Amino acid sequence: MEPGLRTGAPGADKKILRVLAGETLDPPPVWMMRQAGRYLPEYRAIRATAKSFIDFCYTPALAAEATLQPIRRFGFDAAILFSDILVVPDAFGQPVSFETGEGPRLDPIETPEGLSRLAGRIDLGRLAPVFETIRLVKADLPAETTFLGFCGAPWTVASYMIAGRGTPDQGPARLFAYRHPEAFQRLIDRLVAGSIDYLCAQLEAGVDAVQIFDSWSGVLPGQEFRRWCFEPVRAIAAGVRARHPEARIIAFPRAANPHLAAVAALAEIDCVGLDTSADLAAVARDVQPLKPVQGNLDPLALLAGGAALDAAVREIRAKLRGRPYVFNLGHGITPPTPIAHVERMLELVREAR
Ligand code: CP3
Repeated sequence: MEPGLRTGAPGADKKILRVLAGETLDPPPVWMMRQAGRYLPEYRAIRATAKSFIDFCYTPALAAEATLQPIRRFGFDAAILFSDILVVPDAFGQPVSFETGEGPRLDPIETPEGLSRLAGRIDLGRLAPVFETIRLVKADLPAETTFLGFCGAPWTVASYMIAGRGTPDQGPARLFAYRHPEAFQRLIDRLVAGSIDYLCAQLEAGVDAVQIFDSWSGVLPGQEFRRWCFEPVRAIAAGVRARHPEARIIAFPRAANPHLAAVAALAEIDCVGLDTSADLAAVARDVQPLKPVQGNLDPLALLAGGAALDAAVREIRAKLRGRPYVFNLGHGITPPTPIAHVERMLELVREAR
C-alpha cells in the first residue's frame, strides 16, 4: 500500500464523498437528518442516563454512542456527529438549556446592548467534548461510512439567540434585523468567524465533510435572504476552504426554493440540501447540473408508511437518478416514526433498478 493510502483514507471508498465529488451512483447513498434520536429505543435508553440534553451532547462517550447507533442498526452511508447547532451560542457565553418537550431555551438578546453579553470570539475550549466525541466515533466507524460534522447557519443560530427559543416564524430576529441592521450584522459576522473556527476544528478532529443547516432561511424575503443567509453561508464556506482546501461542504437552505440554483452556483459549496417543498423536476433541470443535491423525502410520508412511502421514495429516485444525489429526508425524522418504515425506506432506496 502506498504511504497515506490506508483503508478509510479520505474518499477511498466512501460513497457520499464520491457523490459530493460529482459521481452519479444508482442506487444512491443514503442517510437521514436526525437519524440519531428519539424514534430509536436504544437512543431513548442512553438519553435517560444523562442529566439533560446539553449534558448528553457534552459527554463524549454518550454522544459517540448516539452517533454510532443508527449506523449499527441500518448501515447508513453517513454518520452525523451527535450534537446540536445551539452549542455555538453556548460557546459564545449565552448558555442554552433544553426543557423536555419544549425545545431550546436561552436568555434572549432583545436590544443591541444585549450583544455585549457575548464573547468576541467562540470559545473552542468549551466545545472540547465535541472534538473528543469526533475522535471516539472515528475510531469505531466503518471505513465506508462518511462522517459528517455540522453547524447552524448564522441566521438560524442568531434567530434562537435573539428570541431565546423556537418561534413559528422567527419574528423577533426579523424585527431585530430591520430595527438594528448594524448590530445584527455584527452578530452575524461574529457567528461567521466562530462557525469557521468550529467547522475547521471538527475537520481537524476527523469528520470527512460538513453540513451547514439554515433551517429558518425560508422566512426571509429575497434581499434579506441574500444578506443574512446567502452571504454568511458563502463566507463560512470560503473561510473553511481557505484553511482546508479539500473540505466538502453541504449547504441546507431550508424552504428557500427560489435560491437553490444560486446556492448551487457557489464555488465554495459541494452539495445543496433540499427540503420537502423542493420541486424535483425544477431541481433536476436547474440545480443538479450545477451541483449534487441531497434530499428530500417528507418525514410525514416516512411516518405514514405504506403506499404513500413507497410512492414518495420511488418518485425521488425517478426524478434525481440521472445526476449525482444523496438520498435523505427533507427535514428531521419525527420521534413516532416506526423502525419498520425506516427499514422499508432503505429497501426501496437500495433496490437495483
Ligand atoms: O441529525 C442528527 O442526528 C444529529 C444531531 C442533531 C440534533 N440537532 C440533535 C437533537 C442535529 C444536526 C441538530 C440540528 C438542529 N438543532 C437544528 C437544525 C436542523 C433542524 O432540525 O432544523 C435545529 C434548528 C436545532 C435546534 C433544536 N435542537 C431544536 C429546535 C430542538 C428541539 C426540538 C426537538 O426535536 O426536540 C433540539 C433538540 C434536539 N437536537 C434533539 C436531538 C436528538 C431532541 C432532544 C432530546 O433527545 O431530548
